[in-house]
Amino acid sequence: MFGDAAAQFDVRLHASPVAAEARAALLEAPGFGKVFTDHMVMIQYTEGRGWHDARVEARAPLQVDPASAVLHYAQEIFEGMKAYRAPDGGAILFRPEQNAKRFNASAERMSMPAMPEALFLESVRQLVSADRAWIPDGADGSLYLRPFMIASEVFLGVRPSKEYLYMVIASSVGSYFKGASETVSVWISQNDTRAAPGGTGAAKCGGNYAASLRAQGEAMRQGCDQTLFLDAAHRRYVEELGGMNVFFVFDDGTMSTPALDGTILPGITRDAIMTLAREKGVEVREERYGVDQWRADAASGRLREAFACGTAAVIAPIGRLKSPDGEFTIGDPDKSGPVTTSLRDTLVSIQRGLTNDAHGWVHKVF
Ligand code: PLP
Ligand code: COI
Repeated sequence: MFGDAAAQFDVRLHASPVAAEARAALLEAPGFGKVFTDHMVMIQYTEGRGWHDARVEARAPLQVDPASAVLHYAQEIFEGMKAYRAPDGGAILFRPEQNAKRFNASAERMSMPAMPEALFLESVRQLVSADRAWIPDGADGSLYLRPFMIASEVFLGVRPSKEYLYMVIASSVGSYFKGASETVSVWISQNDTRAAPGGTGAAKCGGNYAASLRAQGEAMRQGCDQTLFLDAAHRRYVEELGGMNVFFVFDDGTMSTPALDGTILPGITRDAIMTLAREKGVEVREERYGVDQWRADAASGRLREAFACGTAAVIAPIGRLKSPDGEFTIGDPDKSGPVTTSLRDTLVSIQRGLTNDAHGWVHKVF
């Protein structure tokens, strides 16, 4: 399916993988990002030689030299995607070629080497195939895949590394948000911004997440699930959450989402939602939306629903926003609104292979 990149992989399956009974116990309530599979993919890059030594092997700790560039200058990028259990027992990926393209866009921004799309896709396919037993069944379960690349040259000078390590690991996951509530609550970061014009906001690099953690800690202390970041220049316009894009649903039946201006991540879920909403006849605008307007529209009822979206969380209705100025709610703050629910149902049934995939978004792994 992904070209002949398969031939390049040396596959050495785990000699003593987790026993079926122990695995079943782990898959009962996996949470998010805590349960890991038996295998991992590694591919090396050396300047002058390119990508080499692609392999699938038993998952194990790395030996990393303390002077490896990534540990000092954070030259690192990653992706997040999911393999779902198909109704016929196989496994499917959702728009994996978009992850491959975004990985290369992130690599370009971070002065890292591009990876041939076929090799990226094959690396993911190899891991899903080796760890197929780790894809949870059930409505919320999936195998979360984390391809990433680190600068591995042993050198403390500040310049792009000449050596890189690409890896894929996999985690059996359930819902991202563990709260009992149907909706999520959001803390508006007043002091910290996530990305500025000219910065790395559109790249999926670890540094963006490191910069978001102080605000995320603040959000959690305030009893909120996520942090909302505002634009760095005006401290006014909605950008995105720490790990999700945002949509608004208005009383005239239209929707909006912040435009891709270089400071937010171009979400693959965001893109799919715009397509699906437009197919349902909904006008979707990509435009600036101020947080003061959000508060006013929530109070007047002009704003009916708001939701966050991303691979990990899928679609999560936003019920409450909190800041040092107080709290406000959107619609029924404990319930998912009808537009949010309808989009979520449509998206999830495509992702899980339960409905006709008119867009060619779903790729069968096996
Ligand atoms: N924004 C940020 C900061 C993210 O980390 C993510 C998750 O990957 C998203 C948005 C949503 O992107 P996607 O829908 O491609 O998962
Ligand atoms: C994803 O949705 O894949 C992300 O990377 C976001 C993170 C919050 C897990």
